[in-house]
Amino acid sequence: MIRDYLVLLSWLCAVQGKIGYFWHITDIHYDPRYSTQANANACWNTRNGVNSGRKTPGEFGDYACDSPWALVESAASAMTSNRGEGIKFVLWTGDALTRTTGMNVELRLQCLRNLTDLLSRTFKEQFVFPALGHDDIGVNFSQLAEIWQHWLPQEALDTFKTAGYYTIEQRSEKYRIIFLNTNLWLNTADSRMLHRSSGSMIDNAHDPFEQWSWFQKTLETARRKKETVYIVGHTPPGIDDRESGAAVLSERHNTKYLQVIRLYSDIIRGQFFGHWHTDTFRVVYSDTGLPVSWIMMAPSISPSTPGGPNNPGLRLYKFETTTGQVLDYTQYYLNLPDANSIGTANWLPEYSLLEYYELQEITAIALHDLADRFTQFNDYAFVRYYAANTVSLPREVEQIWGCGGPLNGVCALHHYCTVTRLNPESYRECYSSYAFALSSTGPSTPRLYFSLLVLLVCAELLRNR
Ligand SMILES: *[C@@H]1O[C@H](CO)[C@@H](O)[C@H](O)[C@H]1NC(C)=O
Ligand SMILES: *[C@@H]1O[C@H](CO)[C@@H](O)[C@H](O)[C@H]1NC(C)=O
Repeated sequence: MIRDYLVLLSWLCAVQGKIGYFWHITDIHYDPRYSTQANANACWNTRNGVNSGRKTPGEFGDYACDSPWALVESAASAMTSNRGEGIKFVLWTGDALTRTTGMNVELRLQCLRNLTDLLSRTFKEQFVFPALGHDDIGVNFSQLAEIWQHWLPQEALDTFKTAGYYTIEQRSEKYRIIFLNTNLWLNTADSRMLHRSSGSMIDNAHDPFEQWSWFQKTLETARRKKETVYIVGHTPPGIDDRESGAAVLSERHNTKYLQVIRLYSDIIRGQFFGHWHTDTFRVVYSDTGLPVSWIMMAPSISPSTPGGPNNPGLRLYKFETTTGQVLDYTQYYLNLPDANSIGTANWLPEYSLLEYYELQEITAIALHDLADRFTQFNDYAFVRYYAANTVSLPREVEQIWGCGGPLNGVCALHHYCTVTRLNPESYRECYSSYAFALSSTGPSTPRLYFSLLVLLVCAELLRNR
């Protein structure tokens, strides 16, 4: 009797769906050389030409530099104070280290250990699941496995040690997280460099470290066990929305990735990546042009990117723990100039996804519709997306780096094409076919938007044919 009652209760809970949260942090790019002393060489990686105009770099960072320790520490305490409870796990999608060839293995290890210690102290009850970025190199897989072994179960450690990828199965909840080592799929020039520094040369052309066969086998297992899946990695497929020239997946691996996602889109509940440092998303379409899956890219903690600066960001997802359905997220951010001038890092909520764009749910179709709104003249969607994209960067800084502002039709078009076209060729097609029509009209006029809209409708019809 009591057992029946318990079964009923647990069934009711399952139907209602338990709510859980997870943080997604990415691209910390910790720079141990950052210095606030005037005229000192402020940081290891001064990004080309970015200059905040200040003589002395601020305590919490500078738009020209990667993260100082004070910024990383402030991010950690913001995560504790903004939501200490209900956190199920933390996704940490790589590029923990600043990009420089000047750091030796010992210093790299020390940076990674210090970051790992900080996150372990911040999340005493939760596991942090790391994914490798292309700047986390010079340290081999077994050394990393040793640093992160307290977070990873044995089965995960086994694959991580040999190839940097792993899966976490939440047996009680029926969802699974797959962590990819996207370094293995970068274009050849980049990956050759990566593999040399990690001590082994591999053939990038086919199935490096057998990640493809492992990935598909894991998805097949998940389908058989009726699990839903999150896919997590550093470098996403598709192209950069700020043209920073950063590493991309090789064309072959990019295409294959999209094919695999299409095949398993029915069980994939979300894809989470970092790398571009911007706040953005992508929609994956089926062969017949239907939106079938989505990818979210969280903005970086580092305020600096080759393609232009951004404010530091942290993202908190809300999800249904029984199904893995992602319900919403809240984006937190730090206004860097404010933090430096008052000497305190006040991390604040920037926006929540559903409310910000007036969405009903997070699905591929809803996000496809959102992207379409970017190009509509009297819709606020692109204005909001544009502000979020650089994490509410101050206007005067943004103007130097942006693609012309939220009222520029070509700028809206560029973002629309990056969000909806995930390979370089279809992006170029998307961009150039509409841009041709735009060039004959003046900027940011209703007419421009109207022609854009007409073309979009045509493209829609063509794509769905
Ligand atoms: C790591 O932390 C230790 C102990 O706080 C400190 O002495 C050391 O300078 C830190 N190293 C780096 C690279 O952050
Ligand atoms: C990783 O590096 C350590 C320290 O240099 C070395 O002892 C070990 O053999 C390396 N492991 C692999 C798999 O290369």
